[in-house]
Amino acid sequence: MTAIYQQAVKAAEFLKSKTEIVPRVVLVLGSGLGDYAERLEKADVVPYEEIPFFPRSTVEGHKARLIFGELFGVPVAMMQGRFHYYEGYTQQQITLPIRALRAMGAEILFLTNASGGICHTFTPGDLMMIDDHINFSGTSPLIGENVAEQGMRFPDMSQAYDRELKQCLLTASKMCGVPLKRGVYMMFNGPQFETPAEIRFARCIGADAAGMSTVPEVIVGRHCGMRVCGVSCITNMAAGMLDQPLTHTEVMETGEKVKGAFAALVDAFLQQISRA
Ligand code: HPA
Repeated sequence: MTAIYQQAVKAAEFLKSKTEIVPRVVLVLGSGLGDYAERLEKADVVPYEEIPFFPRSTVEGHKARLIFGELFGVPVAMMQGRFHYYEGYTQQQITLPIRALRAMGAEILFLTNASGGICHTFTPGDLMMIDDHINFSGTSPLIGENVAEQGMRFPDMSQAYDRELKQCLLTASKMCGVPLKRGVYMMFNGPQFETPAEIRFARCIGADAAGMSTVPEVIVGRHCGMRVCGVSCITNMAAGMLDQPLTHTEVMETGEKVKGAFAALVDAFLQQISRA
């Protein structure tokens, strides 16, 4: 066992002592979307700082806790706040929660985030189903020793975002009347926003949205055998597309505005999952 995996197993053991829920779905709530966790009426709440080997969250607007409960009969674990590479952790460290929740039994990983829209047909407030991603972080959470029991050395990424889960998302979107755009998410390390030249480059190579998270979690989710899907909230147009500076405040404000639509979509998705 690698050190990180041992840590994930210990974190999972600790979490099992805090909740009886065996999560089937992990929902990672990105910037401005954390309020969805309030949906759970009866919940077991575990602050990250209490969990062995979890990093410390340093980002404003992220609540930094794990919440376990049931929604529409589906046992879920919600991460209210996530860890980012730009906080100074390794990609192995920021994805430890995913491995821990997998070790608890979780099968589906639903990632959400805030991003800057690159595609000209997007507008702030749009929700985008992530069809695929570009890892522009320059590294991978799988760098280092691989232990076969934990996952493959060379995991396939040709369908990183699960086809059936995408179908569930599209059905959910129709059910609740919340439109979904689709596109490719490109991860920049941040924490500075991109330059206009970087965004033109991103568009040229096929990106529709730019963000600073999610990709390491998708890679680890796939590595440890989870089915993955993701939704990005386009909180702003990417750098250089409008004649105005980008701010974290704008990101949080748009998140706040779309939280009703986002909640309706996730509710409808979970209802689909509960039938499957
Ligand atoms: N770039 C990168 N990350 C982001 C952005 C952006 O424009 N908006 C929200 N997260």
